[in-house]
Amino acid sequence: MNWNRKHLLDIQSLQPEEIVTVLDTAKAFKAVGERSIKKVPVLRGKTVINLFVEPSTRTRISFELAAQRLSADVINFSAEASSLKKGETLKDTARNLEALNADIIIIRHSATGAPHFLARFLESSVVNAGDGAHEHPTQALLDTFTIREHKGKVEGLNVTILGDILYSRVARSNIWALRKLGANVTLCGPATLVPKVFEQMGCRVVHDFKEAIRDADVINLLRIQHERQRKTMFPSIGEYTSLYGINRSRMNWIKPDALIMHPGPINRGVEIDSAMADGSQSVILDQVTNGLALRMAVLFLVSGGKGPQEIAA
Ligand code: CP
Repeated sequence: MNWNRKHLLDIQSLQPEEIVTVLDTAKAFKAVGERSIKKVPVLRGKTVINLFVEPSTRTRISFELAAQRLSADVINFSAEASSLKKGETLKDTARNLEALNADIIIIRHSATGAPHFLARFLESSVVNAGDGAHEHPTQALLDTFTIREHKGKVEGLNVTILGDILYSRVARSNIWALRKLGANVTLCGPATLVPKVFEQMGCRVVHDFKEAIRDADVINLLRIQHERQRKTMFPSIGEYTSLYGINRSRMNWIKPDALIMHPGPINRGVEIDSAMADGSQSVILDQVTNGLALRMAVLFLVSGGKGPQEIAA
């Protein structure tokens, strides 16, 4: 299916065929990244602005590198050093960036809906790099890409997402993407962080760790997001780790070919220990590598690209 959207705001509104188009386009760009000359001129003359109003390592740097690989000019907006600190609104900030001829504005913001808000009045393309606890669409797409790359498919796989689901934009975007592509999704963690209401998204909700992981083809671990919790949702970090942490002693509870995933940043020793994070079943750094090709695909598609058929083999 040809891509025909100016923005990437969420996964919820995408058709399954559109998700497949992004994944196939990312595959073509991954092949470009394996050539000796990794740069292509598809966004030459375009300007991409990284408008990150929340911290980021992986997402911001991979969007920056993706824009450079596509030959765009890229500007990194630093919220701390900006006039947001003097009280300028997000709307005025974005309109000023557009007045400087921004073609694509990539936004990360603590407020749910901030990218959708910008898309209502900007002529530029808007890409959501994470809005509050709502969605993180490129993370879900790179996660799905990584699963498909390792397992050859997504449909029919058992994917368990463990941890802080309630506050997680990564979880919400992953649930939408995985369900749309036909995976069986299990959510697990303390009842305070994994309420039954998530069953309405087509997921199985369980609170027993062993039950959640034993049949999983993929285990995606999430960080406890202290910055989004209004109060502590479980007695202590130690108790969380003892009930829901994945470690070497629990390795024989999981399938020998199960993939261990984590969007980062990792809290080593909390949701995962180093033996598992750096072990043979971990694909955590593959996720980061795939984020570059995936974000090249997204920048290409929101700029008018139609799909993988336009990327020279
Ligand atoms: N996974 C993720 O969004 O990481 P960053 O916050 O470092 O971008």
